[in-house]
Amino acid sequence: MNFDELDQITQQRLLQDPITVLKELNMPRISNFPTKKGLRDITVDVINKMISVPAMVVRSSEVKPMGTKITYRCIECNVLTEGRIQGLITKIPKKCNECGGEVELDPINCDFIDFQKVRLQELPEDLPAGQLPDYIDVTLLDKLVNECRPGDRVLLTGIVRIEQEEHKTSLFNLRLEGNNVEYVGGSQNKSQDISETDEYEILALSKDEDIYNKLIESFAPDIYGNEIIKESILLLIVGSIARSVNNSRRGDINIFLVGDPGLAKSELLKFAATVAPRGLYTSGRGVTAAGLTAAVVKEDDMYTLEAGAIVLGDQGICCIDEMDKISDNDRSALHEVMEQQTCSVAKGGIVATLNARTSILAAANPRDGKYDLARSIKENVEPIPVPLLTRFDLIHIVRDLKEPTTDQFIKDHILNDMQDKQQTDIDIDIFRKYLSYAKKIEPRLSDKAKQLLGDFYMKMRTINSDTMTVTPRQLEGLVRLATAHARLLLKDTVDTDDAERAIYLVMQSLESIGADIETGTTKYIGKLSKKDSFMSMFANGNVSEDYLIETLVKTGEFTEQQVKDMIQKALKSGTIYEPTQGIYSK
Ligand SMILES: Nc1ncnc2c1ncn2[C@@H]1O[C@H](COP(=O)(O)OP(=O)(O)O)[C@@H](O)[C@H]1O
Ligand SMILES: [Mg+2]
Ligand SMILES: [Zn+2]
Repeated sequence: MNFDELDQITQQRLLQDPITVLKELNMPRISNFPTKKGLRDITVDVINKMISVPAMVVRSSEVKPMGTKITYRCIECNVLTEGRIQGLITKIPKKCNECGGEVELDPINCDFIDFQKVRLQELPEDLPAGQLPDYIDVTLLDKLVNECRPGDRVLLTGIVRIEQEEHKTSLFNLRLEGNNVEYVGGSQNKSQDISETDEYEILALSKDEDIYNKLIESFAPDIYGNEIIKESILLLIVGSIARSVNNSRRGDINIFLVGDPGLAKSELLKFAATVAPRGLYTSGRGVTAAGLTAAVVKEDDMYTLEAGAIVLGDQGICCIDEMDKISDNDRSALHEVMEQQTCSVAKGGIVATLNARTSILAAANPRDGKYDLARSIKENVEPIPVPLLTRFDLIHIVRDLKEPTTDQFIKDHILNDMQDKQQTDIDIDIFRKYLSYAKKIEPRLSDKAKQLLGDFYMKMRTINSDTMTVTPRQLEGLVRLATAHARLLLKDTVDTDDAERAIYLVMQSLESIGADIETGTTKYIGKLSKKDSFMSMFANGNVSEDYLIETLVKTGEFTEQQVKDMIQKALKSGTIYEPTQGIYSK
């Protein structure tokens, strides 16, 4: 029942005393209710009043029957006594009213209604910076049950009720008694409010010849260098076009950064989360029991499904820092999340499939603290499994190269930055709006671009490596990146230059993980040549023959005889020498 269609007297009464009026009207669902409140504005003023709250569902319990009439029968004289129901609590009669005998539940004379509890949390974009989100629990009855799932953005209309705490202090808990659930779509997003003057400014910016570089420069201007990564993240933020529901190919771009600590990975992720519409930053462990995906927890005797960051980030981007620390539960759930874009849960009376149409920007530190070029990417990022790695459209390896010029630049950048801000950057507010504007553009793939991407893909297919197989997934990735590139420039077709840039980025990514397109091989040392493994043994000076044999045989790639042969060969060619008997050096 639409509030606007009620007569004025009923409207007034509903605002004053919703509990009585709703009962009189036989509990209609009220849509379009005028009293809108944020979760932070639910205070004592609205107790017993009806309100509408825009929020995100973060938890939902299993559905249980709740008694609306609970009857007890005396085992002595069969007289029936009704239990007193108050809110969610029933007072069981202690003894029979007639004879004082014992009573027991009489299921035939009870009435039940479906009951579910859900938890609402503030929308991420409404959250004041640096604060923890507020939440409130909502009880849903009858037809409202299973109307919403964790991750849904809803406008929930309900009556604010109070519940006394267990031991009858004068402190009460607030609860919302649900009356109606409406959905709020993507357009309700605060950061996507683009005025006409904004649009004018955005279009003017897009005509700037150097707009692409300016966008990159304006992304995390405090961080020096890392242009390729910044560019990739921008493409991730604007994303590609999601296909229709039945042809559910993802439009989201996933990017993975791995590398040495202290190289601003976390800073870049945090910046991405603040500038992207619906951006979310979380650590690999997840902040709640739900972790990154979803989990079923038992609470107040009810199984409750709780959504993690990726589900809450549905239709947005989720920046996952310290991905190497993910839990086993998440590790297995992530496969589904990253390809099907859903998250299925079946445990303890709860069977649900949640939406997780989320772009993932992940960062990880390598297993041994430092990225080891002698190992494959797979070994460096353990325990992240290879199938998950292939779900990323781009992988960037960030290494501490200790180049004097770069060090000088970073030093100057950090020190100068503290004095005066660069003025060339695009203003952060308009930058954010530009990105959300670009996200709405739907460029078409031109034939020439198709040709280019297809040819490159066929070339990629020749790569032969045990840690990387090129599958049609990579072709989709190329299309996504090219489309995002066109979007970022507000173009309505994906041209050859968009395709070329996508190819360039994928090449960079492949090269950084050690694949070589031209020769179709991978070139990290441990896997490529025995000679390189052998020579790496001399990196720290002198080594004994015994140590050489023992260590190299342990790798499983050499037999003892092979090591001995290699020593002889290397001695002959002069690549190593024998300073003392049985000791070798480079
Ligand atoms: N290229 C850079 N330009 C400016 N500051 C940098 C750069 N690299 C690292 N820093 C600074 O070093 C610190 C560590 O960065 P952080 O994001 O925590 O690294 P990571 O997550 O890669 O371990 C941050 O304060 C960051 O601003
Ligand atoms: Mg970090
Ligand atoms: Zn009795």
